[in-house]
Amino acid sequence: MYHQSKLSNVGNSIFSVMSTLANTHNAMNLAQGFPDFKSDQKLIDAVSNAMNSGYNQYAPMQGHLGLRHAISKKYELLYNSSYNPENEITVTAGATQAIFTIISAFIRPNDEVIIFKPAYDCYQPAIELNGGKSIAIQLKAPNYTIDWNTVAQSINSNTKMIIVNTPHNPSGTVLSKADMLKLQKLTNETDIVVLSDEVYEHIIFDGEQHQSVCRFKNLKERSFITASFGKTFHNTGWKIGYCCAPKTLMDVFRNVHQFNVFSVHHPSQKGLSDYMEEPNHYLNLPEFYQEKRNLFLELIKDSRFKFTPSKGTYFQVLDYSDITLEHDVDFAKRLTIEHGIASIPLSVFNDNNLDEHVLRFCFAKTNDTLKKAAELLNSI
Ligand SMILES: Cc1ncc(COP(=O)(O)O)c(C=O)c1O
Repeated sequence: MYHQSKLSNVGNSIFSVMSTLANTHNAMNLAQGFPDFKSDQKLIDAVSNAMNSGYNQYAPMQGHLGLRHAISKKYELLYNSSYNPENEITVTAGATQAIFTIISAFIRPNDEVIIFKPAYDCYQPAIELNGGKSIAIQLKAPNYTIDWNTVAQSINSNTKMIIVNTPHNPSGTVLSKADMLKLQKLTNETDIVVLSDEVYEHIIFDGEQHQSVCRFKNLKERSFITASFGKTFHNTGWKIGYCCAPKTLMDVFRNVHQFNVFSVHHPSQKGLSDYMEEPNHYLNLPEFYQEKRNLFLELIKDSRFKFTPSKGTYFQVLDYSDITLEHDVDFAKRLTIEHGIASIPLSVFNDNNLDEHVLRFCFAKTNDTLKKAAELLNSI
């Protein structure tokens, strides 16, 4: 019997491909976005304590109440914005599940969803599995700025959702206040839902302010924020995240969420809730990652790669067009096999796999790893 996948046009993700290649050739893996250092022992102890204290049965469907309170406090503190822990915050199995569930809850066949390319790879499959159509707007290297006139022209009566992501994976750019005001203006008095993927909100550099949708009153009314503790607390393997939205939107989300995962790993939620009592655990993050970005860029400044410093996320894109004009997937593979360093070619995130000769490197690595990586890049 032959069964065709509903996602038959999608092969193995580039992350698996590059990580497998890195393992096979014993190469440094700066491809997949995960830290190669441990998360804080205090957080690990907090989760162990939660297990030892009996937080081992189902958590409430909405998430551990203490954690929802801690999240709510964070929005008050950082953005002066309030989300009610009872009915406007839900804990999820990573941001990926939040994104999938938001899309499943709102997108019906033939609904259109505007996404900006290069885009994180889970948006489009979720839209298509639900019968929706993704309308891709391609942003161009090196600035990846959004032309809001193009967005205005792409909106029609079928447009149900717009997905934005700031700080942006893979480009390391951020949306400005002016961008958010344009988005707010364009969506005013429409039924469009905005999904704002803010998983890197705490990884933003050079004194920039994160422009969360919740800072903009009318935008907040129509928006979901998705967030990830994996990115914030260096434990991507725990797959815990959350989403926030006004109650009317969150009711629709929970309707689906209750049948999707129902609830998320309880002891981790209790541990995260205790750990978040100290705001410095996330407030110190920009400085921590900015030092890593600066170190990495200082070390490769004389290499043949060209770059604009990343403004946020733990990714740096490098333009290799002074070295070769070969296709970015081929070059990324060759770098892994011949030079021992794995990255992600940007074309895989682009519309029609547009190749601009750009690779993405993850700098969430120990300083030793970054030094070794820089040596390899300098030798190319
Ligand atoms: C932009 C973006 N959104 C969502 C996610 C998924 O986050 P999580 O690991 O919490 O599911 C990632 C992870 O790489 C990401 O880069």
